[in-house]
Amino acid sequence: MTATIINGKELAHEIRGSMKEEVSQLIMNEGLTPHLTVIIVGDNPASKSYVRGKQKASDETGISSDVIELPSSVTEEKLLQMIQELNNDHEVHGILVQLPLPDHIREENVIVTIDPDKDVDGFHPINIGRMMTGEDTFFPCTPYGIITMLKSKDIQIEGKHAVVIGRSNIVGKPVGQLLLNENATVTYCHSRTENLKEHTTRADIVIAAIGKPNVITTDYVKQGAAVIDVGINRLEDGSLTGDVDFDTVKQKASYLTPVPKGVGPMTITMLLKNTIKAAKGLSKQ
Ligand code: GUN
Repeated sequence: MTATIINGKELAHEIRGSMKEEVSQLIMNEGLTPHLTVIIVGDNPASKSYVRGKQKASDETGISSDVIELPSSVTEEKLLQMIQELNNDHEVHGILVQLPLPDHIREENVIVTIDPDKDVDGFHPINIGRMMTGEDTFFPCTPYGIITMLKSKDIQIEGKHAVVIGRSNIVGKPVGQLLLNENATVTYCHSRTENLKEHTTRADIVIAAIGKPNVITTDYVKQGAAVIDVGINRLEDGSLTGDVDFDTVKQKASYLTPVPKGVGPMTITMLLKNTIKAAKGLSKQ
């Protein structure tokens, strides 16, 4: 078997095309231009590159955006104050604070300060709670992108066994919850899991969010499984690779996502989708 490759770049392009149309209708009919404000603290090169990507994608879709760059020495108090100002600014629909933050700033304080109705990352505990109880809300972008990729290929989720490797608040935990909301049977595995292979080889759907290059080899995967690679690992030669050993797993899986051009472009696309949703005030309904 050779897996069908789910090209996230192409899918993202398709979805952004219809979002662009939706945004131009919003602008024309309601005079409403969705606006995203991104805050970046410090000069982590990976974060800067992600933020540039978010801005470029916003521009291409007709969403207006601005980036507030703060020095890594900024105090938590000052950052929270800026977020409050953005909460009160009616022209700002979505607020995203790029993570990670410097050690002296408590991430949880930042996340709870963002107005839940502008929380386009879907990280606020209120939105996490809404997701857990099955309400419509802002879903965290990477998990939302993964579900969208599975659905784009009509991959059955209901009743299937999904194994999530990784338990971060950004990817592992919420993707497991969204899969459960779609009626999958979900197993969470992580760095302390014993006998990882025993779990992953029983999975119909594997979500690899480990952060180590090429560790998921064919012996971790059941014949015909759908494998979603969330890893973005930079190798010494500068190239990007996922958590899954693409060339070998492709021979055994039914579906597989590449890195790059896999989950990454979908994450940004879901951020744009959440921003449009925030502008329309849908999370309040
Ligand atoms: N850092 C890595 N991924 C993300 C994300 O999805 N949102 C934010 N705010 N920061 C991140």
